[in-house]
Amino acid sequence: MIEKIHTLLKEIRETTAASREEVEQLRLKYLSKKGLIPVLFDEFKTCPPEMKREVGKLLNELKDQAQQKIELLKAGFENGEESVPSGIDMTRPVRQFEPGTRHPLSIVRKEILDIFSRIGFTVFEGPEIEDDWHNFSALNFPPEHPARDMQDTFFISKDPDITLRTHTSSVQVRAMETHKPPLRMTFPGRVFRNEVISARAHCIFHQVEGLSVDKNVSFADLKQALMYFAKEMFGEKTEIRLRPSYFPFTEPSGEMDVSCNICGGKGCNICKNTGWVEILGCGMVDPNVLENCGIDPRIYSGYAFGMGIERITMLKYQIKDVRLFFENDIRFLQQFISAF
Ligand code: PHE
Repeated sequence: MIEKIHTLLKEIRETTAASREEVEQLRLKYLSKKGLIPVLFDEFKTCPPEMKREVGKLLNELKDQAQQKIELLKAGFENGEESVPSGIDMTRPVRQFEPGTRHPLSIVRKEILDIFSRIGFTVFEGPEIEDDWHNFSALNFPPEHPARDMQDTFFISKDPDITLRTHTSSVQVRAMETHKPPLRMTFPGRVFRNEVISARAHCIFHQVEGLSVDKNVSFADLKQALMYFAKEMFGEKTEIRLRPSYFPFTEPSGEMDVSCNICGGKGCNICKNTGWVEILGCGMVDPNVLENCGIDPRIYSGYAFGMGIERITMLKYQIKDVRLFFENDIRFLQQFISAF
């Protein structure tokens, strides 16, 4: 009899059911009046007295186990699930939720805007689809001027007045048209140029430009603001260098280099052994531009600058191919998980 009980205990432990009906079958088989367990209880009465203690204990255990198991199986079908396909482990923990990361361009964009906000610049945004006036004419690019070739872009053939902006200087025009000086603003945004896509250039990229217009704004103010930016962005030891350049909307115009933060100015392949890397264009706002935007150049002067976020990000993180920013390859993006 003891052996029988042990066999049943094992059987019950291993038993499963695929439906509510099967559970009922099991209950009938083991626990109903004529089921295996009550029959054993009958048999128990004929047990020799010296065995009763041990057998009784085992028998009660068997009954408990059977009842518990049947309750458990029943509960599995309580919430409408007819069956659990075999091979599916319902107790497996769910897959861990992976929070996304910020795109490297968003990280650096925020960093640039934060630096300028600390010296009084507020953020101003404008449309990506522009008209000729805001992107070119107001900025002193006459219609046939070759400077327009520097920023070849995408026009709509039906209406050549409509274009994708080539820089966020168009937003500087909008800001000056709608706000009275003093003005201190940054202009982040996506821009478009008709460029052949390569490791160094893309037809879509991002800029942050800046503008300060007030009485008595000088080139020294421009230099001071840009030096502050360079040191905040690339480290306290960073030096800046301004070279003369040309933009139709600034006079004088310059390009700014920072000392290479990779080799510390000694020369490496990032700075092409010069110790300097170019990061932005800048200059004093041309009086014609102020006038075009309704600001009197005899009273006010201003400086402006513009930089590519891709370029700054590539320098900061030593990224060698601009196309990586647009491919959405998770292996690239995941490297910025901790760069908040
Ligand atoms: N708009 C210029 C460009 O996209 C950058 C710039 C802005 C230069 C402001 C000077 C002053 O190339």
